[in-house]
Amino acid sequence: RMANKYMACRNDIHRYDAPFMAVYKSLIPAEEELEKQRQLMAQLENLVAKEWPHAKLYLYGSCANSFGFPKSDIDVCLAIEDDDINKSEMLLKLADILQSDNLQNVQALTRARVPIVKLMDPVTGISCDICINNVLAVVNTKLLRDYARIDARLRQLAFIVKHWAKSRRVNETYQGTLSSYAYVLMCIHYLQLRRPPILPCLQEMDPTYSVRVNNIRCVYFDNVERLSNFGSNNRETIAELVWGFFNYWAYAHDYSNTVVSVRTGSILGKREKDWTRRVGNDRHLICIEDPFETSHDLGRVVDKFSIRVLREEFERAAKIMHQDPNPSAKLFEPY
Ligand code: GTP
Ligand code: MG
Repeated sequence: RMANKYMACRNDIHRYDAPFMAVYKSLIPAEEELEKQRQLMAQLENLVAKEWPHAKLYLYGSCANSFGFPKSDIDVCLAIEDDDINKSEMLLKLADILQSDNLQNVQALTRARVPIVKLMDPVTGISCDICINNVLAVVNTKLLRDYARIDARLRQLAFIVKHWAKSRRVNETYQGTLSSYAYVLMCIHYLQLRRPPILPCLQEMDPTYSVRVNNIRCVYFDNVERLSNFGSNNRETIAELVWGFFNYWAYAHDYSNTVVSVRTGSILGKREKDWTRRVGNDRHLICIEDPFETSHDLGRVVDKFSIRVLREEFERAAKIMHQDPNPSAKLFEPY
């Protein structure tokens, strides 16, 4: 495996920039879809404000982090600063309110790992999950969105990688593969490590944004308009980056010893995180550190079977990028 680490990029790689850009553009949601999301959000804000005047509603996940595909469901967090709320009671109350406002399929899932109310809006056709006080997700959504504003190549690469992962069915955490959130972090990390770098490490810069959530200090530089030229010394294009990303995860990443860390913009050792052995169900076979919940490994869902599936898919993708005559189609062939 390691011999392949130095596999050179094919010399006709730029022929594939235009086809990959076309795939990327076909995946961007239309403006009218975003408008519908805003419309539903406004309706929900209205309903919530009547019952809980001090509560706030935030979008999080792919509908707000700028890595969303068309027709995605929206994720909403109801934030309320009140120490003695009972989440289950509140979700049931919320479900009642939504039901009386003609929203469809309203269901309170109070026993889920993240308790939510689900609903479907018959006017816009959008489905929505509402959780309570999952503020860390709101903050990491902002971090991803801020990274996307620095260099357009992040959004291009992440859309291609997410589309590949969904087509190849390696974006299913309940089957031991990785979440979309994990894939976007892998893309950010890859671009932080380019030389010259395409993305900075926002958490290592002088902070301009600071919040405290569940005793975790979330601080980073968020004046990203100032960084719009950051990656301009690096001229790599989308096809090269897709090639390099898969080549890295197929042949160059040291799965046994290392952790990728967007927080530090570097590769850490498993040892220093104490992620060297299985603890409970967390196996740490591929390690991706959450940028704020640093004890959280987004690879923890991967087991000894799914790690093989994942690595075979990374190798398949790397080979396609290396030699297939039509990589922008072949990469996404359904599994
Ligand atoms: P798609 O729905 O696949 O398009 O992507 P998504 O961006 O909505 O991603 P996903 O469903 O993986 O995650 C939703 C949000 O949950 C993320 O954007 C994070 O803000 C938050 N999140 C925080 N921790 C985790 C985690 O351990 N796993 C996942 N999946 N999400 C997390
Ligand atoms: Mg989602």
